[in-house]
Amino acid sequence: PVIYVVTPTYKRPEMVAELTRLGQTLTMVQRIHWIVAEDSATCSAPITSLLKRLGLPYTHLATPMPEIYRREKFVPRGVSNRRAALQWVQANGENTGVLFFLDDDNAVDIRLFEEMRSTKTVSMWPVGLIGEYTVSSPIVKEGKVVGFYDGWPAGRKFQVDMAGFAVGVGYMKKQRKVTMPYIAGHEEDGFLKSLNLSISNIEVKADRCTNILVWHTRTAKNPIRTLNMETHQNDNIKVLADN
Ligand code: UGA
Ligand code: MN
Repeated sequence: PVIYVVTPTYKRPEMVAELTRLGQTLTMVQRIHWIVAEDSATCSAPITSLLKRLGLPYTHLATPMPEIYRREKFVPRGVSNRRAALQWVQANGENTGVLFFLDDDNAVDIRLFEEMRSTKTVSMWPVGLIGEYTVSSPIVKEGKVVGFYDGWPAGRKFQVDMAGFAVGVGYMKKQRKVTMPYIAGHEEDGFLKSLNLSISNIEVKADRCTNILVWHTRTAKNPIRTLNMETHQNDNIKVLADN
Protein backbone atom coordinates (compact mmCIF):
# COMPACT_ATOMS: atom_id res chain seq x y z
CA PRO A 1 0.00 0.00 0.00
CA VAL A 2 1.03 3.57 -0.65
CA ILE A 3 1.31 5.96 2.31
CA TYR A 4 -0.05 9.48 1.74
CA VAL A 5 2.04 11.68 4.01
CA VAL A 6 0.29 15.01 4.57
CA THR A 7 2.56 17.84 5.70
CA PRO A 8 0.99 21.23 6.45
CA THR A 9 3.46 24.09 6.22
CA TYR A 10 3.60 27.88 6.05
CA LYS A 11 6.00 30.60 5.01
CA ARG A 12 8.61 31.64 7.60
CA PRO A 13 12.42 31.56 7.69
CA GLU A 14 12.52 27.87 8.77
CA MET A 15 10.22 26.49 6.07
CA VAL A 16 12.83 25.40 3.53
CA ALA A 17 15.06 23.89 6.23
CA GLU A 18 12.19 21.91 7.78
CA LEU A 19 10.94 20.54 4.47
CA THR A 20 14.45 19.69 3.25
CA ARG A 21 15.11 17.63 6.36
CA LEU A 22 11.73 15.92 6.29
CA GLY A 23 11.74 15.35 2.52
CA GLN A 24 15.17 13.74 2.61
CA THR A 25 13.95 11.40 5.36
CA LEU A 26 11.00 10.44 3.16
CA THR A 27 13.29 9.56 0.23
CA MET A 28 14.45 6.60 2.35
CA VAL A 29 10.94 5.14 2.40
CA GLN A 30 9.31 3.06 -0.34
CA ARG A 31 5.85 3.80 -1.73
CA ILE A 32 5.35 7.25 -0.27
CA HIS A 33 3.23 10.01 -1.81
CA TRP A 34 4.08 13.31 -0.13
CA ILE A 35 1.35 15.93 0.01
CA VAL A 36 2.87 19.26 0.96
CA ALA A 37 -0.02 21.53 1.84
CA GLU A 38 0.85 25.19 2.25
CA ASP A 39 -1.14 27.60 4.38
CA SER A 40 -0.80 30.20 1.66
CA ALA A 41 -2.53 31.52 -1.44
CA THR A 42 0.22 30.26 -3.73
CA CYS A 43 2.75 27.44 -3.88
CA SER A 44 6.22 28.69 -2.84
CA ALA A 45 8.82 28.38 -5.61
CA PRO A 46 11.64 27.02 -3.39
CA ILE A 47 9.32 24.24 -2.22
CA THR A 48 8.33 23.38 -5.79
CA SER A 49 12.03 23.04 -6.70
CA LEU A 50 12.73 20.94 -3.61
CA LEU A 51 9.88 18.57 -4.48
CA LYS A 52 11.11 18.18 -8.05
CA ARG A 53 14.65 17.52 -6.85
CA LEU A 54 13.70 14.89 -4.26
CA GLY A 55 12.16 12.61 -6.89
CA LEU A 56 9.33 11.42 -4.62
CA PRO A 57 5.76 11.20 -5.93
CA TYR A 58 4.19 14.38 -4.58
CA THR A 59 1.29 16.81 -4.65
CA HIS A 60 1.84 20.47 -3.84
CA LEU A 61 -1.23 22.36 -2.61
CA ALA A 62 -1.84 25.93 -1.39
CA THR A 63 -4.90 26.73 0.75
CA PRO A 64 -4.75 29.76 3.07
CA MET A 65 -6.31 29.84 6.53
CA PRO A 66 -9.43 32.03 6.52
CA GLU A 67 -8.78 35.43 8.20
CA ILE A 68 -11.37 34.88 10.94
CA TYR A 69 -9.28 32.06 12.44
CA ARG A 70 -6.01 33.98 12.24
CA ARG A 71 -7.48 36.56 14.62
CA GLU A 72 -8.36 33.99 17.30
CA LYS A 73 -6.47 33.88 20.62
CA PHE A 74 -5.50 30.26 20.00
CA VAL A 75 -5.07 29.92 16.26
CA PRO A 76 -5.93 26.47 14.87
CA ARG A 77 -2.74 25.81 12.93
CA GLY A 78 -2.63 23.89 9.68
CA VAL A 79 -6.34 23.15 9.31
CA SER A 80 -7.27 24.76 5.96
CA ASN A 81 -4.28 23.10 4.31
CA ARG A 82 -4.86 19.69 5.95
CA ARG A 83 -8.50 19.88 4.86
CA ALA A 84 -7.41 20.47 1.26
CA ALA A 85 -5.08 17.48 1.47
CA LEU A 86 -7.91 15.36 2.90
CA GLN A 87 -10.09 16.26 -0.06
CA TRP A 88 -7.28 15.37 -2.41
CA VAL A 89 -6.83 11.95 -0.80
CA GLN A 90 -10.57 11.28 -0.82
CA ALA A 91 -10.73 12.11 -4.52
CA ASN A 92 -7.46 10.54 -5.68
CA GLY A 93 -6.21 8.16 -3.00
CA GLU A 94 -6.06 4.41 -3.55
CA ASN A 95 -8.43 2.49 -1.27
CA THR A 96 -5.60 0.26 -0.07
CA GLY A 97 -3.57 3.35 0.88
CA VAL A 98 -2.83 4.84 4.28
CA LEU A 99 -3.06 8.50 5.36
CA PHE A 100 -0.58 9.99 7.84
CA PHE A 101 -0.33 13.61 9.04
CA LEU A 102 3.28 14.63 9.62
CA ASP A 103 3.94 18.22 10.70
CA ASP A 104 6.94 19.87 9.06
CA ASP A 105 8.94 20.23 12.30
CA ASN A 106 8.59 16.68 13.66
CA ALA A 107 11.28 13.99 13.61
CA VAL A 108 10.46 10.49 12.38
CA ASP A 109 12.20 7.11 12.34
CA ILE A 110 11.60 5.51 8.94
CA ARG A 111 10.61 2.23 10.64
CA LEU A 112 7.34 3.94 11.60
CA PHE A 113 6.19 3.78 7.99
CA GLU A 114 6.39 -0.02 7.90
CA GLU A 115 4.43 -0.12 11.17
CA MET A 116 1.58 1.95 9.72
CA ARG A 117 1.53 0.45 6.23
CA SER A 118 -0.89 -2.35 7.23
CA THR A 119 -3.46 0.08 8.68
CA LYS A 120 -7.08 -0.81 7.84
CA THR A 121 -9.16 1.50 10.07
CA VAL A 122 -7.03 3.71 12.36
CA SER A 123 -3.72 2.69 13.89
CA MET A 124 -1.91 4.37 16.80
CA TRP A 125 1.50 4.50 18.50
CA PRO A 126 3.35 6.74 20.99
CA VAL A 127 4.73 10.21 20.22
CA GLY A 128 7.85 11.36 22.05
CA LEU A 129 8.94 14.78 23.34
CA ILE A 130 5.46 16.12 23.77
CA GLY A 131 3.59 17.91 26.51
CA GLU A 132 3.92 17.72 30.27
CA TYR A 133 4.44 13.94 30.37
CA THR A 134 7.14 13.98 27.65
CA VAL A 135 5.35 11.18 25.83
CA SER A 136 1.80 10.77 24.64
CA SER A 137 0.62 7.21 24.09
CA PRO A 138 -2.41 4.97 23.94
CA ILE A 139 -2.58 2.70 26.98
CA VAL A 140 -2.64 -0.92 25.81
CA LYS A 141 -3.97 -3.94 27.70
CA GLU A 142 -4.03 -7.40 26.12
CA GLY A 143 -3.36 -5.91 22.73
CA LYS A 144 -6.22 -3.38 22.86
CA VAL A 145 -6.34 0.36 23.52
CA VAL A 146 -8.05 0.97 26.87
CA GLY A 147 -7.25 4.65 27.37
CA PHE A 148 -4.67 7.37 26.77
CA TYR A 149 -1.64 8.69 28.61
CA ASP A 150 -1.44 12.33 27.60
CA GLY A 151 -0.50 15.55 29.39
CA TRP A 152 -3.50 17.43 28.01
CA PRO A 153 -6.71 15.39 28.31
CA ALA A 154 -8.97 18.46 27.71
CA GLY A 155 -12.10 16.32 27.62
CA ARG A 156 -10.97 14.66 24.42
CA LYS A 157 -12.16 11.17 23.46
CA PHE A 158 -8.94 10.56 21.53
CA GLN A 159 -6.06 12.10 23.50
CA VAL A 160 -3.46 11.86 20.75
CA ASP A 161 -1.14 14.07 18.74
CA MET A 162 -1.39 14.50 14.98
CA ALA A 163 1.73 12.33 14.49
CA GLY A 164 0.33 9.50 16.63
CA PHE A 165 -2.04 7.83 14.19
CA ALA A 166 -2.67 6.75 10.60
CA VAL A 167 -5.91 6.05 8.74
CA GLY A 168 -6.88 3.51 6.09
CA VAL A 169 -7.96 5.42 2.99
CA GLY A 170 -10.67 2.88 2.07
CA TYR A 171 -12.08 3.09 5.61
CA MET A 172 -12.02 6.90 5.52
CA LYS A 173 -13.83 7.04 2.19
CA LYS A 174 -16.71 5.02 3.68
CA GLN A 175 -17.40 7.65 6.34
CA ARG A 176 -19.97 10.30 5.54
CA LYS A 177 -18.60 13.56 6.94
CA VAL A 178 -14.85 13.42 7.34
CA THR A 179 -13.50 16.77 8.48
CA MET A 180 -11.05 18.54 10.75
CA PRO A 181 -12.39 21.31 13.00
CA TYR A 182 -10.92 24.81 13.24
CA ILE A 183 -10.46 24.40 17.01
CA ALA A 184 -6.92 24.73 18.36
CA GLY A 185 -5.91 21.62 20.28
CA HIS A 186 -8.94 19.63 19.13
CA GLU A 187 -7.98 19.02 15.50
CA GLU A 188 -6.98 15.38 16.09
CA ASP A 189 -9.94 14.52 18.31
CA GLY A 190 -12.44 16.19 15.98
CA PHE A 191 -10.99 14.47 12.95
CA LEU A 192 -10.96 11.02 14.59
CA LYS A 193 -14.53 11.47 15.86
CA SER A 194 -15.60 12.32 12.31
CA LEU A 195 -14.30 8.87 11.30
CA ASN A 196 -16.87 7.17 13.59
CA LEU A 197 -14.11 5.28 15.27
CA SER A 198 -14.57 3.35 18.49
CA ILE A 199 -11.59 2.95 20.79
CA SER A 200 -11.87 -0.84 20.63
CA ASN A 201 -11.26 -0.76 16.86
CA ILE A 202 -7.90 1.04 17.06
CA GLU A 203 -5.03 -0.99 15.62
CA VAL A 204 -2.06 -1.02 18.00
CA LYS A 205 1.41 -0.50 16.48
CA ALA A 206 5.05 -0.02 17.54
CA ASP A 207 5.43 -3.13 19.66
CA ARG A 208 2.20 -2.62 21.63
CA CYS A 209 2.94 1.10 21.88
CA THR A 210 6.22 0.57 23.71
CA ASN A 211 8.45 1.95 20.96
CA ILE A 212 8.83 5.66 20.18
CA LEU A 213 9.34 6.18 16.44
CA VAL A 214 8.19 9.80 16.06
CA TRP A 215 8.91 12.92 18.09
CA HIS A 216 7.05 16.19 18.40
CA THR A 217 10.22 18.25 18.05
CA ARG A 218 9.89 22.02 17.63
CA THR A 219 12.26 24.40 15.96
CA ALA A 220 13.24 27.64 17.71
CA LYS A 221 11.88 30.68 15.91
CA ASN A 222 14.38 32.74 13.98
CA PRO A 223 13.86 36.48 13.72
CA ILE A 224 12.78 37.78 10.36
CA ARG A 225 15.27 40.54 9.57
CA THR A 226 14.97 42.93 6.69
CA LEU A 227 18.09 42.62 4.60
CA ASN A 228 19.87 45.72 3.46
CA MET A 229 20.06 44.92 -0.24
CA GLU A 230 22.58 47.70 -0.93
CA THR A 231 25.19 45.98 1.19
CA HIS A 232 24.13 42.45 0.13
CA GLN A 233 24.11 42.50 -3.65
CA ASN A 234 24.45 38.74 -3.96
CA ASP A 235 22.01 36.49 -5.80
CA ASN A 236 22.10 33.94 -2.98
CA ILE A 237 21.18 36.57 -0.38
CA LYS A 238 18.19 37.58 -2.49
CA VAL A 239 17.03 33.96 -2.60
CA LEU A 240 17.16 33.83 1.20
CA ALA A 241 15.15 37.03 1.38
CA ASP A 242 12.48 35.59 -0.94
CA ASN A 243 11.96 32.54 1.22
C1 UGA B 1 0.55 20.83 17.71
C2 UGA B 1 0.11 19.59 16.92
O1 UGA B 1 1.20 18.71 16.74
C3 UGA B 1 -0.41 20.06 15.55
O2 UGA B 1 -0.68 18.95 14.73
C4 UGA B 1 -1.64 20.92 15.79
O3 UGA B 1 -2.14 21.37 14.55
C5 UGA B 1 -1.24 22.10 16.65
O4 UGA B 1 -0.57 21.70 17.86
C6 UGA B 1 -2.47 22.88 17.06
O5 UGA B 1 -3.22 22.33 17.86
O6 UGA B 1 -2.69 24.00 16.60
P1 UGA B 1 2.57 22.58 17.32
O7 UGA B 1 3.98 22.10 17.29
O8 UGA B 1 2.09 23.24 18.56
O9 UGA B 1 1.60 21.38 16.97
O10 UGA B 1 2.25 23.55 16.09
P2 UGA B 1 3.09 23.92 14.79
O11 UGA B 1 4.18 22.94 14.53
O12 UGA B 1 3.43 25.35 14.87
O13 UGA B 1 1.98 23.76 13.65
C7 UGA B 1 1.45 22.49 13.26
C8 UGA B 1 1.57 22.33 11.74
O14 UGA B 1 0.77 23.34 11.09
C9 UGA B 1 2.99 22.51 11.20
O15 UGA B 1 3.23 21.56 10.17
C10 UGA B 1 3.01 23.93 10.66
O16 UGA B 1 3.89 24.11 9.56
C11 UGA B 1 1.56 24.13 10.23
N1 UGA B 1 1.12 25.54 10.36
C12 UGA B 1 1.42 26.27 11.47
C13 UGA B 1 0.39 26.12 9.34
O17 UGA B 1 0.12 25.47 8.31
N2 UGA B 1 -0.02 27.42 9.46
C14 UGA B 1 0.27 28.19 10.56
O18 UGA B 1 -0.10 29.38 10.60
C15 UGA B 1 1.01 27.60 11.59
MN1 MN C 1 5.11 21.52 15.69
